[in-house]
Amino acid sequence: MANLCNIDGRIVPEHEATVPVLDRGFLFGDSIYEVIRTRNGSLFAWQEHLDRLRASAMGIGMELSLDDATILRRVLDTMHAAGNAEHYVRIVVTRGTGTAPSIDLRAAPGPERWILFARPLPPAPSDVRLQIIERLRNDRRALDPAVKSGNYLNNVLGLAEAKQAGATDCLFLNTSDHVTEASTSNVFFVKNGTWLTPPAHAGILLGVTRALLIDFLRARGERVEERDLTRNDALTADAVFTSSTLRDVALVTHVDGIAMPQGEAAQRVLAIGAEFSQQCDRRAKDVDMPSAIQLAQRAKGPA
Ligand code: PDD
Repeated sequence: MANLCNIDGRIVPEHEATVPVLDRGFLFGDSIYEVIRTRNGSLFAWQEHLDRLRASAMGIGMELSLDDATILRRVLDTMHAAGNAEHYVRIVVTRGTGTAPSIDLRAAPGPERWILFARPLPPAPSDVRLQIIERLRNDRRALDPAVKSGNYLNNVLGLAEAKQAGATDCLFLNTSDHVTEASTSNVFFVKNGTWLTPPAHAGILLGVTRALLIDFLRARGERVEERDLTRNDALTADAVFTSSTLRDVALVTHVDGIAMPQGEAAQRVLAIGAEFSQQCDRRAKDVDMPSAIQLAQRAKGPA
């Protein structure tokens, strides 16, 4: 069991991995990333994460020089070397080393720098208490939250504000006072039997788990609406939960220190959340991993 890093194709122990001080990811947060997990050892939703990585790159005008098969081969090689039973995989791509201290993109001729982390998958926290905080989620007209950039300082400070208030995570509003998401997960409310979640235009990361869960719920005949939601919707919901790669569906016990009802709606969230996780396990094994291996086999030459 090890924490390993792959830096531009070279695998090293995480504590020995270094990035040059002139790297634009370090200097300006000029980078993008993905967090992926395994299920029973198989990578889950690889294609979805890769597609979002490419969308994030496009969102900040970063060209990615590696093809899909090479990226995957590096991930699989690093996972294999780390030998963890269940992996947390983080892919970070920075715009590389530029000409400091210029922030001008013309001072960043490339190539980009690829850093992969393979660690043991951390356990999911058992208790989620959300605090609706003063700090706002970034406006879409600024650095769009749909881009999974390495610039998470606003989320870092949002989480700190929530913890200061005694919660475990924050719930960000946007400039229109609509609900967006938590620090590293999306949010859903259940109200009168309908599953509600903020739409893309609220300013959110389009979570892979969120999309898969919406499809899963609709396939079961559940009513799901993506619509603007308010603080009051959160406080009057029958149940609230978050969704993310690392936690799947996680029931929220408190919003702003107020205990959420733990009745029928909460029990349904737990039951449907467990079924969703089981379906994800099956998909990782039967769908994602066979296609991932085929793709990796296409990568020729040194990874
Ligand atoms: N976070 N919203 C934000 C701001 C996130 O950072 C994440 C993911 C999500 C959920 O997305 P997904 O379902 O694709 O994991 C929503 C990862 C897990 C992280 O940064 O650790």
